[in-house]
Amino acid sequence: MNISILNESQCQSISDQAKKLVGEMTLVEKIGQMSQVFGHNAKIPNSMREDLRAGKIGSVLNEVDLPTLNEMQRICMEESRLKIPLLIGRDVIHGFKTIFPIPLGQAASWDPDMVEKGAHVAAKEAASKGVNWTFAPMIDISRDPRWGRIAESLGEDPFLCSQLGKAMVKGFQGNDLNHKNSIAACAKHFAGYGAAEAGKDYNTALIPENEMRNVYLRPFQAVADFGVATFMSAFCDLNGVPATGNQWLMKQILRQEWGFDGVVVSDWDSIVEMTVHGFTEDDAGAARAAIQAGIDMEMASQSYRYHLHELLQRGKIDIDQINTMVSRILELKFELGLFENPFVDESEAAIILHPDHLEAAKQAAIKSCVLLKNENNVLPLSLSKTKSIALIGPLADDDYEIMGTWVFDGEAQHSISCKTGLENLLEGEVEVKYEPGLETVRSTDESRFDAAIAIAQSSDAVVMVVGEESFMSGEAHSRAEIDLPGRQAQLINAVASAGKPLILVVMAGRPLTLENVLPATDAVLYAWHPGTMGGPAIADLLFGESSPSGKLPVTFPKKVGQIPIYYAHKNTGRPPQDGGCVNINDAPVRAPQTSLGMTSFHLDAGFRPQFPFGFGLSYGDFRYENIATSHSVINMGDEIQFSADVLNAGAHEAEEVVQLYIRDLVGSVTRPIKELKGFKRIKLKPKCRERVSFILSTDDLAFYDHQSKLVSEPGLYHAWIGGSSDASLWMEFRVNE
Ligand code: GLC
Repeated sequence: MNISILNESQCQSISDQAKKLVGEMTLVEKIGQMSQVFGHNAKIPNSMREDLRAGKIGSVLNEVDLPTLNEMQRICMEESRLKIPLLIGRDVIHGFKTIFPIPLGQAASWDPDMVEKGAHVAAKEAASKGVNWTFAPMIDISRDPRWGRIAESLGEDPFLCSQLGKAMVKGFQGNDLNHKNSIAACAKHFAGYGAAEAGKDYNTALIPENEMRNVYLRPFQAVADFGVATFMSAFCDLNGVPATGNQWLMKQILRQEWGFDGVVVSDWDSIVEMTVHGFTEDDAGAARAAIQAGIDMEMASQSYRYHLHELLQRGKIDIDQINTMVSRILELKFELGLFENPFVDESEAAIILHPDHLEAAKQAAIKSCVLLKNENNVLPLSLSKTKSIALIGPLADDDYEIMGTWVFDGEAQHSISCKTGLENLLEGEVEVKYEPGLETVRSTDESRFDAAIAIAQSSDAVVMVVGEESFMSGEAHSRAEIDLPGRQAQLINAVASAGKPLILVVMAGRPLTLENVLPATDAVLYAWHPGTMGGPAIADLLFGESSPSGKLPVTFPKKVGQIPIYYAHKNTGRPPQDGGCVNINDAPVRAPQTSLGMTSFHLDAGFRPQFPFGFGLSYGDFRYENIATSHSVINMGDEIQFSADVLNAGAHEAEEVVQLYIRDLVGSVTRPIKELKGFKRIKLKPKCRERVSFILSTDDLAFYDHQSKLVSEPGLYHAWIGGSSDASLWMEFRVNE
């Protein structure tokens, strides 16, 4: 079930042990294992003590006081009848105490090793505080930046999300769930949650099955095959059936087609919310629907506890279902080694915020930042030639928002702001003049603008740090506009009047529309919410201690009205062409009606994004030449190699994420104009080149057809190798039957 090195006989013995234990359990104890309750801030109410003794609780979430957790485990192991330990759950989404960049930022690193390292650090720190189960990775494909939870996601692309989702699972679970630094991972939110209509959280998701299979389910299948220990059901109504009660999703796809036999937990109250959806009449009906779908454990709500007895008595569910579900939960506890030892030595907590962890978080932040603009190579700033910088913006000296959304255990006091990061790096060699300009990102008070302009005028360069509060993304925090909040755009344009090189650092939980500020900037470094070590990372990047190397994991629209906008779109019957779009301002007044020869675009935005998926600059200057394939024609089942020369024509050593895209020109269902099929991060010194190769088999070209069969089809294909989804170096190959 998981990537632990359990061999066949070990798996069998765990399964046998679990079944044997189920055979000794009362119905109350079985239902207890299926119930996850929340903690009470380092207290154990008497009612909870009694429930623990009676075996009525299988898991606790959101308690991180170690002595309290050890006491809860003690009650179970010493005072309950069958001595079954607890699963302890927590949202360790992008760090525990050492906060890494938000997952969307980590995705911008395109670096599975770095992502794995971050999850491993998070697991070590969380496990040292008694946590043995995290509700991550969140692998919802996200193509709507209005949706607040895009911040927690790994972006818009199934291939990138799959690779990085597996890396996170590996980081959390290690090679053996039984290891003291391993915690169970949880693939969430299964499934289709990222397609919430209008980008409004918890909203309906209407996704055709073919799109579900080819896009939204891919990362979940990847981590299920890879060995993720658990899944979490999504809140959303998926095509008319809430995911939590959706038997097509939970039984046909997850259990039957994929053979996943791990634990599925509901999202918070998502079982009883099926009545609110209008899918069930009451909590009893919701509990039944969840059992029928195969939701093993109920998070927060208590419909299992209060209704499963009666449902069994009335024959609405059967005991075999219950026994199977309880076995899964017990197997996970055996695999985690909890029956042998559920306790955590309180001295272990010393690894929290270990210097190695902080360094890993800094490197993650460095690799996550994306350089979107660098006119005239204004970056990196020169330590020797820069005497002073004006540091301006409401997030320039912020130590809280820098951590981003979904931070339960990180603390601002441990974060290093941009201002502190710059001052530490520059050590007085370069004067840092600081003026927030706006008190917060939402401020509308422009009274400090003059002070900001003044320090800009008296400095060699301007660094502005703007963006979103962490509150403005994450769960339940969607936005209808995705521009810079408050008067930040006005501040940027006002400071630009000083005429100095203006470097914009953006901290945000989503792509923002920047059309109204880009002209005022010379450089833009997109830092997402970079975490505890964001300040030192940004300082190193601005002054060239490191080169930016991040690539966008999600498309940036020019305008919110372009959404959904993503690179792997279909061609349509009227694909847009550069030069083929009428601009609303160029059309004559009283223009005649015309549609002939028109294509798919917006009169007031054209068809291109502001920045495409996979885009990111560096201090190198990467050029791509001499693309070639091992064969121009292959047969079904063969492999094919693609390669190209990558040259760093710049003056700085830098890293580049080389990307391979494929297009299947004709399919039994229409295929995207491009699909990411490979990526490699390379480092090149100035004027050096490297030939980068990718090998694909025809299985890698497979997609789900209208009969939901996974097929690779013969025909003509195109391949691109480049530094973004806008790659121009391409060639053709054919696949024969
Ligand atoms: C929340 C989220 C889910 C999280 C869970 C526990 O509502 O949807 O992602 O893991 O509850 O906090």
